[in-house]
Amino acid sequence: MISSVPADPTGWEARYGTRPPSDIPDEAFSHLLRHRSVRAYGDQPVADDALSWAIAAAQSASSSSNLQPWSVIAVRDRGKQERLAELAGDQRHVAQAPLFLAWVADWSRLRRLGLAQHIPTEGTDYLESYTIGAVDTALAAQNAAIAFELLGMGIVYIGGMRNHPEAVAEELGLPSGSFVLFGMCVGYPDPSRPAEVKPRLPQAAVLHHGRYDLSQEAAAVADYDRRMSQFQRSRQRDDQAWSRSAVERVRGPEALTGRDRLREAVNNLGLKLT
Ligand SMILES: Cc1cc2nc3c(=O)[nH]c(=O)nc-3n(C[C@H](O)[C@H](O)[C@H](O)COP(=O)(O)O)c2cc1C
Repeated sequence: MISSVPADPTGWEARYGTRPPSDIPDEAFSHLLRHRSVRAYGDQPVADDALSWAIAAAQSASSSSNLQPWSVIAVRDRGKQERLAELAGDQRHVAQAPLFLAWVADWSRLRRLGLAQHIPTEGTDYLESYTIGAVDTALAAQNAAIAFELLGMGIVYIGGMRNHPEAVAEELGLPSGSFVLFGMCVGYPDPSRPAEVKPRLPQAAVLHHGRYDLSQEAAAVADYDRRMSQFQRSRQRDDQAWSRSAVERVRGPEALTGRDRLREAVNNLGLKLT
């Protein structure tokens, strides 16, 4: 008998290679677990209403002390997207996405408010403020990502925006005290080039109870290496073990694609991080 129920409706099996522990507690989990980065888009534009709802989702995320130290720049201009794509290491999907969002960690607004009230804002120069800016911007962006996905679109984050932070800031006209933390390509997935749900580490590697527990790490990583190699092979991609390629990415400053100078770049953009 042919069943109309998909084999893996929740995405759990694609993530972990095991059966889910119970029935799906809520349909929303199916959307969360089936996230996959989308780098190929159809022609359909992203409507202004969809953008407004996604930003409302972003602004609904928690915010440290409700400071809301972020901004986002919507780019729908091929020329600008081409230049941003180049700056991100020639990532074609940045140029081709119907909508590109530059997520900005933004202390400039509070500095302007401080200036207007003749109150210093030196607190924005500390690592703590950098951290708050990065955390709040990421929380907001991820809410927007889920919103776009709920609307049938796909996204991919673009950390490549930090390869040349000063040039990106110039391209987008950023005020001093702000910088692009990452970008996000948004669009309807091209059905002829579908993206697939990528496996993740077993929960035993990341979830600890009461205290950090290393006892299951080796087995969990071995299991993940096997599943990731299989995933890569099935897509005709290099199937080097995940544990090897992940470590290679942090081997040294030369592996950071220019981002080893991020502190200097952020300082050049007016944050005076010490
Ligand atoms: C902060 C951040 C930056 C990223 N930067 C890039 C990027 O510059 N280019 C890209 O193609 N993917 C980028 N990604 C996507 C990751 O490669 C992707 O999320 C990861 O491989 C897991 O795949 P999945 O999202 O399909 O599950 C980024 C993801 C995050 C969270």
